[in-house]
Amino acid sequence: ASTSAQSGPGCKTQCGDVDIPYPFGIGIGTGCAIRDFEIICRRTANGIYKPFLFVRNVEVLSISVPFSQVRVLSDISTYCYNTSTRSMVQKAWSLDFSRSPYRFSYLHNKLIVIGCNTLAYINNLGSTAKYTTACAAVCESPAALTNGSCVGAGCCQNDIPKGLRGYMFTFYDVYNNSNSTLFNPCSYAAMVETETFSFSSDFITTTRFNDTDDGRKPLVLDWVVGNATCEVARDMPSYACHSRNSMCVNSTNGQGYLCNCTDGYEGNPYLFDGCRGKFISLLDPCSSLDHVQSFYEE
Ligand SMILES: *[C@@H]1O[C@H](CO)[C@@H](O)[C@H](O)[C@H]1NC(C)=O
Ligand SMILES: *[C@@H]1O[C@H](CO)[C@@H](O)[C@H](O)[C@H]1NC(C)=O
Ligand SMILES: *[C@@H]1O[C@H](CO)[C@@H](O)[C@H](O)[C@H]1NC(C)=O
Ligand SMILES: *[C@@H]1O[C@H](CO)[C@@H](O)[C@H](O)[C@H]1NC(C)=O
Ligand SMILES: *[C@@H]1O[C@H](CO)[C@@H](O)[C@H](O)[C@H]1NC(C)=O
Ligand SMILES: *[C@@H]1O[C@H](CO)[C@@H](O)[C@H](O)[C@H]1NC(C)=O
Ligand SMILES: *[C@@H]1O[C@H](CO)[C@@H](O)[C@H](O)[C@H]1NC(C)=O
Ligand SMILES: *[C@@H]1O[C@H](CO)[C@@H](O)[C@H](O)[C@H]1NC(C)=O
Repeated sequence: ASTSAQSGPGCKTQCGDVDIPYPFGIGIGTGCAIRDFEIICRRTANGIYKPFLFVRNVEVLSISVPFSQVRVLSDISTYCYNTSTRSMVQKAWSLDFSRSPYRFSYLHNKLIVIGCNTLAYINNLGSTAKYTTACAAVCESPAALTNGSCVGAGCCQNDIPKGLRGYMFTFYDVYNNSNSTLFNPCSYAAMVETETFSFSSDFITTTRFNDTDDGRKPLVLDWVVGNATCEVARDMPSYACHSRNSMCVNSTNGQGYLCNCTDGYEGNPYLFDGCRGKFISLLDPCSSLDHVQSFYEE
């Protein structure tokens, strides 16, 4: 028997263009989501509805149940030269998911630093292990830069560790005196989705890198449905793998577990009867997930 919430008849499963599958759900205290998976569906200035994680105010681009991931937009940290004060000004953004089920995907994200005289550190927040990684980007002139190449000239990238739940950037100059501020107004640091990032030389000479999506970039989070191991979770009232033909999987990115449909089945393992035989959806053009939704709406 489980005491946890279950996606019910009154629960909307879309916010704007984004699907919101259980254990995610829209609203607080609506019983539509498991705790920490609540989504705020907010009307934006142009009238379009967009989903945001309730635990941290970041916009959600998409949610994957089978891969236990959520893509969000996170802010770019900036380090700019002020021509009147002749000093560098940093706006360092931090994101802290400690005491929540989200971790940065070490497989799908990288630490990126863009600039000509910039060293950026990433500090692990909310953890006793103060893991830090750094990256230095340097360049002599814009002519020396190569589009699509991020190996130190104007752009530096580094892996992020497993289990990372929070970060904060700190910027430093690589050189004490640099002429690069003449052609490079700002340096940037961000944790970004590897697949959608590509360096361009005009990120050095213009503010284009920061000009899209209100200065935000896609970032991939892994989530767990509970922080215990499978063996411990199975005996807990909150055990979330409700569907027949579902199984528990230990997270590979920090402690905790998630659920998946077993081999030959697909759908949503968190819903009762959410995992459907793959052969059914092959015969039926309505996908197995649509089936689940209409089942609960009837
Ligand atoms: C869930 O199962 C699918 C299909 O077998 C697999 O592709 C996917 O990687 C699994 N997800 C996790 C988080 O293990
Ligand atoms: C530069 O510094 C001056 C003085 O502190 C401030 O008024 C101005 O807004 C700054 N400019 C930028 C672009 O941050
Ligand atoms: C840069 O070098 C000058 C002269 O060597 C020194 O006075 C200044 O403190 C240095 N600035 C920084 C930020 O290290
Ligand atoms: C900066 O540029 C000036 C003029 O081109 C040059 O004399 C000076 O050596 C340069 N400084 C550095 C640190 O590169
Ligand atoms: C890189 O691409 C940008 C944008 O398309 C272009 O403006 C720039 O000239 C290119 N730089 C190089 C070095 O090819
Ligand atoms: C980056 O974009 C944000 C959002 O539009 C803006 O507030 C910020 O001033 C920009 N920073 C720079 C250095 O362009
Ligand atoms: C695990 O989850 C429980 C319930 O949400 C929470 O009280 C506890 O602090 C969590 N433990 C860790 C190590 O995050
Ligand atoms: C989950 O992890 C625990 C502790 O590392 C291990 O004992 C157990 O065998 C794992 N279970 C599964 C289903 O992988």
